[in-house]
Amino acid sequence: MAQLWGGRFQKKTDDLVYEFNASIGFDKTFFHEDIMGSRVHVKMLSQQGIISSEDMEKILAGLDSIEKDVDEGRLEITSEYEDIHSFVEANLIDRIGEPGKKLHTGRSRNDQVALDMRLYTRSQVDYTKEQLKSLLEVILRIMKDNLDTIMPGFTHLQKAQPITLSHHMGAYFEMFRRDVDRMTDIRERMNYCPLGSGALAGTTYPLDRYYTAKELGFDGPCNNSMDGVSDRDYLIEYLSALSTVMMHLSRFSEEVIIWNSNEYNFVEIDDSFSTGSSIMPQKKNPDIAELVRGKTGRVYGALMSLLTTMKGIPLAYNKDMQEDKELAFDAMRTTNGCIQLFTGMLKTMTFNEEVMYKSANKGFTNATDAADYLVGKGIAFRDAHSIIGEIVLYCIDKGIAIDDMSIEELKNICPAFEDDIYDAISMETCVNKRLTKGACSKESMIEAITKCKEYLESLD
Ligand code: ARG
Repeated sequence: MAQLWGGRFQKKTDDLVYEFNASIGFDKTFFHEDIMGSRVHVKMLSQQGIISSEDMEKILAGLDSIEKDVDEGRLEITSEYEDIHSFVEANLIDRIGEPGKKLHTGRSRNDQVALDMRLYTRSQVDYTKEQLKSLLEVILRIMKDNLDTIMPGFTHLQKAQPITLSHHMGAYFEMFRRDVDRMTDIRERMNYCPLGSGALAGTTYPLDRYYTAKELGFDGPCNNSMDGVSDRDYLIEYLSALSTVMMHLSRFSEEVIIWNSNEYNFVEIDDSFSTGSSIMPQKKNPDIAELVRGKTGRVYGALMSLLTTMKGIPLAYNKDMQEDKELAFDAMRTTNGCIQLFTGMLKTMTFNEEVMYKSANKGFTNATDAADYLVGKGIAFRDAHSIIGEIVLYCIDKGIAIDDMSIEELKNICPAFEDDIYDAISMETCVNKRLTKGACSKESMIEAITKCKEYLESLD
């Protein structure tokens, strides 16, 4: 047990209490951030004349050697220490003696942990953004390659109207674009430095909080020291954004699973991204998509957990806040991993264009356009709807598509039909006549793709 606060205690901490209280098992995640914060803090202490420059040099050298030894496996972060802050400070004192005891001047573990968590989260926000960017690049490539790949669009999971694969992918581009923008927004709002807040009330030392904030890449110090040590809003925002990313990935996964089913057969998942069955030799399972769908729950769980932890905490720091870490780390690791795996699966997936086309063609997806055709021939839409309904019933009975009916058969049901009906309801016409912004025609999609490309370039 290496603790920093033994002075006012007369008895040794109970073993179970020590274990219950300790956070080293998980806060070692931000070991590097802890060192980074200490470096800047100690430089500032020296600049402000609070410690000597000789002491600063010794502390910096000590911190360097601890970091190096941990990175190169010579020093292990063990549960002998209560948390990562104690680990660094105790090792520093062991190595350099007296000057090491000055590191914590004008600082509390409360602002230290607030800083470490913020620095770590900030780098994760950036990482998520990078991962999402790679996913958007793959989606954009599929959009470009599939401007003419016709497939059924669905509502209620029933074939509705023909669209293109390009258009379908474009919908996901928009979802993940908003996710990227959320990362940008969160980063901007969170980028204020809690270091220098002290335990809660600030400190009597003349700390230069503007200097430390700037050195650590923040836009400035946070405004209120009590808020500085107890704000976890940024983490809640990030977990909420990660939950939305997972919700999007899960919807996409659900579609991949459906498309990969024997009944649909729209896609072929690459062997390297699917798995087999131990008993059924014919199986090739979409496990990656299923796992991504399945893991969504644990990310939502992390968000719910933190919201609940924070809701009853009076100002300022309370130990409850130590609970902000484990599930949040898990959610970050899970979501970033899922984006990466999903991107790999999508990149290597192939689309069965012919099957998709046939599915659209045989699914009465041109029924709306057939009704619109009759409107063009002077029939009121409600009557046209009912005539086409009758035609659909006739086709179902015969096991054919509307296009398979002869002009005589069509005229028998409604004399307004003429030879131009076949052209009017071809899959290509149905798709390419939809020219409004955001619609599925090739023309609209070419415009959309140009905008998507510009967006991706603007992220560089
Ligand atoms: N392990 C603590 C946490 O994660 C660090 C801060 C401890 N501060 C304190 N006053 N006990 O929140």
